[in-house]
Amino acid sequence: MTGFASRTEEIAPFQVMAILQQAQTLAAQGIDVIHLEIGEPDFTTPAPIVEAGIEALKQGKTHYTPALGLPELRQKIADFYRTRYGVDVSASRIAITPGASGALLLLMAARLEAGDELLMADPGYPCNRHFARVFEAQGRLIATTADSGFQLTPEHIEKNWTEGASKAVLMASPANPTGAMISHEVLEKIAQVTADQGGELWVDEIYHGLTYHDASDSRFAGQRPQTALALGEHVVVINSFSKYFGMTGWRLGWMVVPEHYIPVIERLAQNLFLAPTTPSQYGALAAFDNDSLAIMEARRLELQQRRDYLLAELPKLGFKIPVVPDGAFYIYADASALTQDTQVFCQQLLQETGVAITPGFDFGDQNANVYIRIAYTTNIERLEQAIARIKAWLQKES
Ligand SMILES: Cc1ncc(COP(=O)(O)O)c(C=O)c1O
Repeated sequence: MTGFASRTEEIAPFQVMAILQQAQTLAAQGIDVIHLEIGEPDFTTPAPIVEAGIEALKQGKTHYTPALGLPELRQKIADFYRTRYGVDVSASRIAITPGASGALLLLMAARLEAGDELLMADPGYPCNRHFARVFEAQGRLIATTADSGFQLTPEHIEKNWTEGASKAVLMASPANPTGAMISHEVLEKIAQVTADQGGELWVDEIYHGLTYHDASDSRFAGQRPQTALALGEHVVVINSFSKYFGMTGWRLGWMVVPEHYIPVIERLAQNLFLAPTTPSQYGALAAFDNDSLAIMEARRLELQQRRDYLLAELPKLGFKIPVVPDGAFYIYADASALTQDTQVFCQQLLQETGVAITPGFDFGDQNANVYIRIAYTTNIERLEQAIARIKAWLQKES
């Protein structure tokens, strides 16, 4: 194929979408597929949000909003930072975006020059390095291990920072694909090391709210949830209504940036998107109400049960779980006792059992051939069926 911009050559497909497509093809043939591949739970959007969205549509609220989003939604998010985290954030620093994806695109468009490097963990969310490529910058993947919970450390930053090229560090906590969190103390050190190098720290908090550590965990006991925004105005935070708020398809997120970024972000948003989707923003106005938050809390507890079930069952099948996930809805498991090629393993598993999981190579290069990601995005009964199918399949194979 010719005529395409060379930057497109390095943008790999998001493999999980290919698996989803295969799974859908099998389902269309009448095969019962259990979806553990895709990063969105089976829950639909909480009813109060849906109703607020429908009401907005009925009232004809279908026009463009300001490019940075509805002022009242920006204020609600600022209020949420105060009540949930005890952090004061001015609404004027908040931009509403088309998902966290839109936030990341705007941020990279605003801050990255061609040739800049963005430091990120391997394994990590695959789209980030591809976003950087769109702006002719480069994701610098840093191999992490279970010792640091597959998260970057201050030492990683010091060792990999390249004067004149490195621009920012992008991290997620809880992370995709590992569900691993970073402690606030380590994040603080990373912020310091990055600032010492003249760089920026960008933290993706899209899985905030979906955390499962119990009160007896000394790392977190008694603490209220912490946001990287507590580290100061220079840290950028990306977030979304997709995951905790159950609104993936509404395509709505936000970011909090230093005040002086706002005019540039606004100009870019005006040009690239005009505005975030209007009905979604009206729906999201109901997301912080107590009845919505109560639904989200019940769902968090359900996800925790699913996680605990898989944490107990997967090792019995031969999967190792080097880092117990504290959050999100993923388990990143080492399948080296079962295969040296998880891509083939996942393909065969899907074809022969109808259980869809994601091979590690979607998330980076580091030991990707022996890792898999399981998303516990379906109910316990289905998870039990999945475990039974995998068990029978492994027994047949051996
Ligand atoms: C870490 C991370 N960041 C960003 C996104 C994009 O989410 P959104 O639906 O808000 O665009 C995802 C989606 O899976 C994700 O896992």
